[in-house]
Formats: sequence, structure tokens, C-alpha cells
Amino acid sequence: MPGAMRQSTSNLELLTIYEVSKILGSSLDLQQTLREVLRALAYQLQMHRGRVYLVGEDNVLRLVAANGLSNEAAAQIEFRDGEGITGRILKTGMPAVVPNLAEEPLFLNRTGGREDLDEQVASLVGVPIKAAGVVVGVLTIDRISDEGPQGHFGSDVRFLTMVANLIGQTVRLPHVAEEPLRDAETFRMQKELRPIAAPINDVVCTSPNMLEVMAQVHRVAPFKSTVLIRGESGTGKELIARAIHNMSPRKDAPFIRVNCAALPESLLESELFGHEKGAFTGAQKDHKGRFELASGGTLFLDEIGDISPNFQAKLLRVLQEQEFERVGGSKTIKTDVRLICATNLNLEEAIGHGKFRADLYFRINVVTIHLPPLRERRQDIGPLARHFVAKFAKDNGMTLVMEDEALEVLNRCTWPGNVRELENCIERAATQSRDGIIRTESLSCSLNLCNSSVLFQYRTLGASVGGLAPSMGPGSVNRVPPGRPGVPAPANAPKAPAMPAPVPEPAGAGSAWPACASGCSAGPSPVCGAAQPAVPVPLIPLPLPEPSAPAAAAPAPTSVTNAAPPPAAEVPLDEPESGSLRDRLLWAMERTGWVQAKAARLLGMTTRQVSYALRKYNIEIKRF
Ligand SMILES: Nc1ncnc2c1ncn2[C@@H]1O[C@H](COP(=O)(O)OP(=O)(O)OP(=O)(O)O)[C@@H](O)[C@H]1O
Ligand SMILES: [Mg+2]
Repeated sequence: MPGAMRQSTSNLELLTIYEVSKILGSSLDLQQTLREVLRALAYQLQMHRGRVYLVGEDNVLRLVAANGLSNEAAAQIEFRDGEGITGRILKTGMPAVVPNLAEEPLFLNRTGGREDLDEQVASLVGVPIKAAGVVVGVLTIDRISDEGPQGHFGSDVRFLTMVANLIGQTVRLPHVAEEPLRDAETFRMQKELRPIAAPINDVVCTSPNMLEVMAQVHRVAPFKSTVLIRGESGTGKELIARAIHNMSPRKDAPFIRVNCAALPESLLESELFGHEKGAFTGAQKDHKGRFELASGGTLFLDEIGDISPNFQAKLLRVLQEQEFERVGGSKTIKTDVRLICATNLNLEEAIGHGKFRADLYFRINVVTIHLPPLRERRQDIGPLARHFVAKFAKDNGMTLVMEDEALEVLNRCTWPGNVRELENCIERAATQSRDGIIRTESLSCSLNLCNSSVLFQYRTLGASVGGLAPSMGPGSVNRVPPGRPGVPAPANAPKAPAMPAPVPEPAGAGSAWPACASGCSAGPSPVCGAAQPAVPVPLIPLPLPEPSAPAAAAPAPTSVTNAAPPPAAEVPLDEPESGSLRDRLLWAMERTGWVQAKAARLLGMTTRQVSYALRKYNIEIKRF
């Protein structure tokens, strides 16, 4: 196939995978969902006569969804293990290709419908549908051609295997085919009732690099191998750890998480290994540690990069010998846990600084999964946003939608806090929405309440904030650094002076600050941080000043659009000396062209307080 044509086919395949993943994630009706998937295959890629069979508890394959067959006709069709081509796929767990069905003795034509082909040649491509490594069904399609078998079956098999994997993730109910119609209801209920504890279907991923992550998750899940998940804060490391567990043969045993950074060494030791009665003051009875509690299941050591060198040695021994003693005990306890570790630290750099043991690094770094930051998988932003909108609506028993314009704003942000920040942003916007619609105006960046923006000011002032900003001190170990906060400007935001240069990062991987898609690097809006007050805005809302409290005053700015906020020391001549806070708010907003940050400076308040007051007094914000 010529390069360009192959390229466009790959794009089409990628697009179809995107469609399929959206379809599978969107409906609760299994049969309906699968039929739509088959329709997408036929429409986008001319893969006709799609069939999805699922295995019942009696190990018989039943047709659950078919293109061009009624439910009644489909309900009659089944294949036993090894019977016909479809049964063979079930039996072997391997794909099958039949270039010309008319010449294939194994072909049973049980589903009929190929009689009208006359001169055309029908080829069949079939792949197993697997969940957690077990074959739970078969997906087949026909290729129809006037000119004989067309022979791109290798790429068809690869593509259909991806689709089958997605179907496998969605189905994950071994006996769903037993009574397709009743089980569609079971499926719906299971999907609704499933605990939030993140089965694989809750991982929203449509971008190619996240699909690759999910493929890795599928590959690694069935084994006991230790997995190290790496990625910036908020990229979904814990979610992926849970997904691996949920897809593994250990899924019915416990998944136990320990946040290694949260506990001092002595507590961590007793938490992980347990202790015997009397081991230390307050140890009034024997206590099982997390290694024991996770027996047969998965132990998730979160923030592993943060454990002390002393504790690293202790952990190493358990990992090497698969045994340990409780604190204060002498009995050796054997353990059978699958270990998953996660960190946002640059472990290699930590080893270089003598802060992390190389031998422990090699122990835990068996299979590594890198979670890309959200800014490197922009295609996920939309689906994730919709996912969080739907989640919020469901959790709060309400109807909630998001306007396309708001989604566009989200699409332009670089999300330094990654998926968690996006989730919080949507949640905040959802609470602002009074009519069940998230509009651009409801987004934090439009209200000057964006956390990234605030953090950016801390960063530009050289301070380190929690786990999000990399440490700056000499010899400190970098976290996998977040991107430069890129908070999109609202459509009406005035232009502002260029953003101050960020504090240079220590040399090393990831020190680059990707440019903000919204153009902040060129000339950010005030909400990007450049035109914010120099003093960081407190993250905790402050009580509003009493209306009678004297406001810090400032001269009237010469231009309401471009001027930097006036210094707080000077008094504007026409400021109302008295009057309600509402009056003063209106006055300040008018004076500053309805830019809340500027009005806040004028009044000696924080932007947040102004925003709150505007809402409190029902003052409609003018847009220019
Ligand atoms: N692909 C995804 N689909 C749906 N939700 C996601 C996805 N990735 C992350 N989330 C959600 O984002 C939030 C943060 O994810 P998680 O706690 O797994 O991140 P993390 O990498 O462990 O962060 P940290 O390093 O700060 O501990 C969670 O609420 C999680 O459910
Ligand atoms: Mg985490």
C-alpha cells in the first residue's frame, strides 16, 4: 500500500478506535453499544457483517450483536468450543483469517446472509475478545471484494484486536452471554453499582499515548511482576494501579494502598510489617501489617521515592526474600503480594544524589508504566471533561451539561496539575452553575480563581508549593515537573504585559516549560498570573471585610483595559467615602473596566473576595 494511503488508513483506524471507545463508554445497554460499535466499523472501515459473540458459563459462544440481523435471529446462533471458525478462535485464543469463505470447509455459514455475493469474494477476519487474559468472546467481520482477497489482513487483525480489547474491558462479565437480554440489564446494573474504586472502565483514555498505556496495563495485569508507575502529580497513577489489580487474577483479593510519604519511618514500618503486642508503648495487641493484609492481592506503595534510606534497606529485604518479621516479633512471615509502586520523583536523580538505593530501584523497576502529563495527550481533555461532568451529575443526582465554548477553554489549558486539576476545575464550575449548564463564565480562570495561576505566582516568587512544584534547593530531587501553568484567557480578557520569566528550573530531565497553548507565554491575560497582585492570593477564602471597613485606595487607572493595577497606597479622588459594599463594588468594577483583579486591588480585597461579593450581591458582570 502506498505510504500516503497507509497513513490515511491509520488515521481512519485511530479515529475509529476513538469512536469505538466513546461508544463503549457512553451507553449502559450492552447489546445496543456493541451494535453501534459494529456499525462504526462498517461505516468507517468497510468492515461488514460484524459479529460479537460472548461466552456463557456453559462455554458456548452466543451471538450478542450483529450487523443486519434481528435480535430474534441472533438469539438462535451459537457455537461450541472448537466448532467452526468462530469456535476455533474461542478454543485457541488466536485470531483467524479466511481469505475466501467460499473455499473454506470449516466455514459453517450459520449466520447466513452471504448468498447474494455472486461474483464477490468474502473474507473473514476474527479475533478473540479477552478480559484479564481470558477469552470471553469473539469478534468477526467480513471483507467483501470484487477482485479477490485483498490481503491487508495483518493490519485488520491488529486493529480488530484493539477493538476487541476495548470490548473486553467493557464486558468483563464472564457469563454475560448466557441470556443476552437479561444480562444486558445485569450489565447495566453492574455498571451502575460498581464501586468507584476504579475498575478499568473508569479510566478515560482516547489519546494514542494513553491507549498505549492501557495496552501495557493489559499486558502486565495477568502476571505477578512488580510494576512501577511514574508520572507527574495527578496523572492517574493510583487509578492505573487499581486498574492493573482489577484486571489481574488477584482482583477478588484485597488491593491495599500505603502512602509512604505520609508516615514517619517508625510508623511506616509497623504499618507495613505489623507489630506484636508490647513491641512499643501503646502496642496493646498484635497488629497485622499491610503486607499481611494484602496477602493474595496487591500492595500499592504510593510515593515510594519518599521513603528514608533506612527504610529502603528494610523494604529491599522483603522484596528480595518475600518474607519479614513483625516489629517486635521473631516469627518470619511469608508473603504473597503483587507489588505496584508509584512515584512522581525523578528516581534516577535521587540515586545520583544518594537519596535512593540503586538496588531497590532495580527491584521495583521491573515493568515501568509512564503516565504522560495531560498536556501531552490533549485528545483526552474533552472525554475526561465530559466524564467528570457526568460523574458530578450522577453523584449529585442532577442534570449537568457543558457548553462547547467552555470545553474549548479547557482544551487550551496546559493543566500543570493534570487530570486532578481538570477534575477539580469541573467540580468547581459545576457548583457555580445555577441552571445545570457549565459555561465559560463558570470556569475558575474566568473568575480569576484558577489554582494554577496562583501557584504560578508562587513559583515565580521562587517558593515551592507542596508536591506540585519541583523543589528548588540545591541537591534537592526533582519531581516529574509540571508544565508551565497555562491558564486560558477568557474571550473578553484584556491584553496584558508579557509574563515575567519563570524561575529557571534546575538542569535535568523535564526542565523545559512547554508553552501555553492559550498564548500565555506571548502575552498572558491577567488571569495567567502576570497582572495579578505580586503578593500571592491566599488559597483559603478570607472573610469579607465589613462594608464600613476603610478600603485601601488607589488612583483611577488611565486605561481600564491595559493599565497595570494601580498601587494600593494612593487614594482615588472619586471613591465613595461611605456607602454599602455593593456601591463600592460597583464603583470599583466600573473604574477598572470590570476586571475583577483590578477592582480587588482598588478595594484592598482579594480577587476571590470580589468574586464572592459580586455573586452575593447578584451583580451581573459586564462583558466587553
Ligand atoms: N484517565 C483517567 N480517567 C478518569 N479519571 C482519571 C484519569 N486519570 C486520573 N483520573 C482522576 O484524577 C484524579 C487523580 O488521579 P490519581 O490520584 O490516580 O493521580 P496520581 O497520579 O496518583 O496523583 P498524585 O501523584 O498526586 O498522587 C483521581 O480522581 C482520578 O480518578
Ligand atoms: Mg497518587
